[in-house]
Amino acid sequence: MRSLDEFARDKLATRERASRRRRLTHFAGHDAHIHRHGRRWANFAANDYLGLRSDPRLIRAAEAALRDEGCGAGASRLITGNHPGYLELEADLAALEGTDAARVFGSGYLTNLGLIPALAGDGDLILIDRLAHACMWSGARLSGATVRPVPHNDVDAFEAALRESRDQFRHCLMLTEGVFSMDGDASPLAALADLATARDAWLLVDDAHGTGVTGDGAGSVQAARLSSEAVPLRVGTLSKGLGAYGGFVGCSQVVAELIINRARTLVYSTALPASIVAAARAAVAIVRTEPSRVRRPTALATRFANALGCPPPAAAIVPVVVHDEQAALRAASAFAEHGFWVPAIRPPTVPDGTSRLRFSFSAAHTDDDVEGLIDVAQRILHP
Ligand SMILES: Cc1ncc(COP(=O)(O)O)c(C=O)c1O
Repeated sequence: MRSLDEFARDKLATRERASRRRRLTHFAGHDAHIHRHGRRWANFAANDYLGLRSDPRLIRAAEAALRDEGCGAGASRLITGNHPGYLELEADLAALEGTDAARVFGSGYLTNLGLIPALAGDGDLILIDRLAHACMWSGARLSGATVRPVPHNDVDAFEAALRESRDQFRHCLMLTEGVFSMDGDASPLAALADLATARDAWLLVDDAHGTGVTGDGAGSVQAARLSSEAVPLRVGTLSKGLGAYGGFVGCSQVVAELIINRARTLVYSTALPASIVAAARAAVAIVRTEPSRVRRPTALATRFANALGCPPPAAAIVPVVVHDEQAALRAASAFAEHGFWVPAIRPPTVPDGTSRLRFSFSAAHTDDDVEGLIDVAQRILHP
């Protein structure tokens, strides 16, 4: 339709003018290197923090399940898609998270999109860290609850919001991240958990970038030694540190039961393939038995941050804010010229005026990869 295409062209032109237009690029490769048209880059853009996405143990587990169970699950979990691998994976994830139960969803995004509206609705209050990931915002908006953004990691602001508003609402959900995806910093979990407990609010921590990386692999809530009472909802993803695909929440048994009755992204969506579930299980076993792999991404990120004079990272992510969109794009191209793939992150992913380069580190990076990156970064960012 002409009006539809005009609409699309107009929206794209607006993005182009603001240097915010996105384009897809095709890459091949695995481990920490990618290639395209005969060129090769060290990949400092991915979230494969433990280098597991091409680990032979994950591949073997996936191949075996693929042969036994086929490509697709064929139905949603509540119909016939709930193959036995789910039971085992959910038990493994609950053990990792230190919770009574866990529920696996189709992705991390789908976890928040289904979970948040299953727990909050009209008459409830959601307090959300302003920098929380898009999928928490989507879940919050979809829920129909009153949504109040809170300045990033500001415990006093969370407290003030609870003091002023908590009594006017039936339930309150507080949303934050364990390790913030674009800032690489940790949230003040212990203080937020104390507040939540004092005001009868439910704290949901999305630890997509902490799972497998912080707390000896068990994530940021375990690192902070917080109980299931203090943090009853621990969201994670199978697709970053764990190298597979899917999302999950660690929670109580009764909340896990509620989820299969109320979380629409689980109820009304086809189950994950058995091969992916098997790969995720293999990854959890590796996290539990290979502490040096678990520690390596944070150690490499810290080495880089020290060399560049950046604040110490909480995990494997180091942002360097260059403010405007074009500066970020220019810097990313300069890194690419030198053989390093680093993404320029621009609004609306990050707030206006905070465009940045986001460096992410993996156990699969060699020491030479990181030394080379430091050398180039010093020349490009501190000429
Ligand atoms: C904090 C956070 N939550 C959830 C997600 C989505 O996870 P997935 O990629 O598994 O959909 C992301 C992905 O970037 C994230 O950063």
